[in-house]
Amino acid sequence: MSVDGKVANHYSHGDLAQTILAALAAAGKDLDELTPADLAPVDEFHIGGREATVDFAGRFGAKAGMHLLDVGCGIGGASRYFAGSHGCRVTGIDLTPEYCAVAATLAEKVGLADHVRYRQANALSMPFEDETFDGAYTFHVAMNIADKAGLYAEIARVLRPDAIFGIYDVCGGETEELHFPVPWADDPSISFLAGPDEMTALLDVAGFDVVETLDRSEFAKDFFDRMRQAAAETGPPPLGLHLLMGPAFPEKLKNMVRNLHEGRIYPTEFICRRR
Ligand SMILES: C[S@@+](CC[C@H](N)C(=O)[O-])C[C@H]1O[C@@H](n2cnc3c(N)ncnc32)[C@H](O)[C@@H]1O
Repeated sequence: MSVDGKVANHYSHGDLAQTILAALAAAGKDLDELTPADLAPVDEFHIGGREATVDFAGRFGAKAGMHLLDVGCGIGGASRYFAGSHGCRVTGIDLTPEYCAVAATLAEKVGLADHVRYRQANALSMPFEDETFDGAYTFHVAMNIADKAGLYAEIARVLRPDAIFGIYDVCGGETEELHFPVPWADDPSISFLAGPDEMTALLDVAGFDVVETLDRSEFAKDFFDRMRQAAAETGPPPLGLHLLMGPAFPEKLKNMVRNLHEGRIYPTEFICRRR
């Protein structure tokens, strides 16, 4: 099977929309009155969840009316945040067909269907004209993409000159070997991490000026500590990323925290401008 097929299989669930809606109902939410904030525990599939998205948005500088591209949007949490809280129009693309369908269902449920749109597509070959978007961002996606030069060149192609581009991704550390499984891969065959310096060089070649690089490792450690404490006090929450990751969630989480503490991974933000 191709890497793309393996990646889409890795993320596919089979019955994700119903699973999330049932968990929301079990958590006492009225399914006819859902807000983007209600979905945040489950629809932000990256380290730090909604908190990380809000922090990132402060540095990214999106303005109302901008048309943004979310590359590898997953089930769309960040896109609905930028639409609902910053007045942006967002187009999300993702390799995994089920995620695009769930993203659209959730947008409908929170009344944002007119502001966000999702398409199944590969980030390496996107179905958009040159210079379509005012800005783009990508959260925790490049770990599944070996051809990072191709990825950033393709994103540069669809951005207007001077557009903003933000990345929040998991970078590799000094030790290349990871403890698997992790949330983005069960084994090394679909995991491709680049170090922060390599990322900066790749972005430069693709036509981006990197204006800020931020190591988010300490934030991530603190976030996981708080998550563990909350689970110890009140038990696992009904709504969470375990709904996406299934029974292997505890092991994936444990390995990710271990990789983080052993310097094998560095969650890192890059804020760039297309030249
Ligand atoms: C860990 S999830 C992050 C989802 C979302 N960005 C978020 O933060 O909630 C990784 C996502 O990247 C997508 N992905 C991986 N490789 C891709 C590719 N080549 N093109 C488009 N999407 C891809 C996967 O389908 C998955 O939805």
